[in-house]
Amino acid sequence: MSEPIVEIDSLSKDYQTGEITVRALTGVDLQIEKGNFVVILGPSGSGKTTLLNLIGGIDAHTSGSIRVNTRELTKLTEKQLTEFRKEDVGFIFQFYNLIPTLTAVENVELAARLRFPRRIAYERSMKMLKTVEMDDKALKFPSQLSGGEQQRVAIARALVKEPKIVLADEPTGNLDTETGERILKEMLRICKEEGTTFLIVTHNVTISKLADYIIYLKDGQIFGTSKGQS
Ligand SMILES: Nc1ncnc2c1ncn2[C@@H]1O[C@H](COP(=O)(O)OP(=O)(O)OP(=O)(O)O)[C@@H](O)[C@H]1O
Ligand SMILES: [Mg+2]
Repeated sequence: MSEPIVEIDSLSKDYQTGEITVRALTGVDLQIEKGNFVVILGPSGSGKTTLLNLIGGIDAHTSGSIRVNTRELTKLTEKQLTEFRKEDVGFIFQFYNLIPTLTAVENVELAARLRFPRRIAYERSMKMLKTVEMDDKALKFPSQLSGGEQQRVAIARALVKEPKIVLADEPTGNLDTETGERILKEMLRICKEEGTTFLIVTHNVTISKLADYIIYLKDGQIFGTSKGQS
């Protein structure tokens, strides 16, 4: 049951901007078990997004090691890394990155098609839009949706592939508290029913309490973990 899905050792990440090096993560050690619902907390600039990007294989680390679902990311070829991102990871970005020329359902379908044939992809996409209460706006373009609605489409897009791990960066930051909590609870249900691992940056206190555990980041370091209260 307590099989690790993320194993991180002495992970560091530097960003180089001209002459200046910013150390975004320093010596992070972390282990996350399969099927856990984990919340990451920390002030702005503490390295939360950087950590998610490294675990999701969309940015390269500076030193240390990251193993996700038994794959050592730092040793994968570009092609293997692409496969990993396509199949294993569902990413919900801090800024939703929907494709403006596709409707809501087409945005979700694009992700679903990575895993499923056309008709099943469509059905799953509509079902997932219903889960995030957006099925009635499936045919709208992102520009016709509010920020919170776009965010919900982005959530559906990440979940529709049934990824092994969902990395979510403030996924409900643009939603009112009530809608945000309803959707986070839906994620918690998927986590517990499907055994999907969730790693979520959120300041929502109610959800932090429901998490299996909370990781606190500060100045690029983990300075504590605590159990949720559930
Ligand atoms: N592409 C980049 N180039 C240079 N520096 C960067 C880059 N991305 C992040 N940083 C720096 O790395 C540090 C960590 O940034 P990160 O985005 O991980 O923080 P965060 O915890 O997600 O903050 P927020 O809550 O504001 O989203 C910050 O000092 C930031 O300025
Ligand atoms: Mg961030």
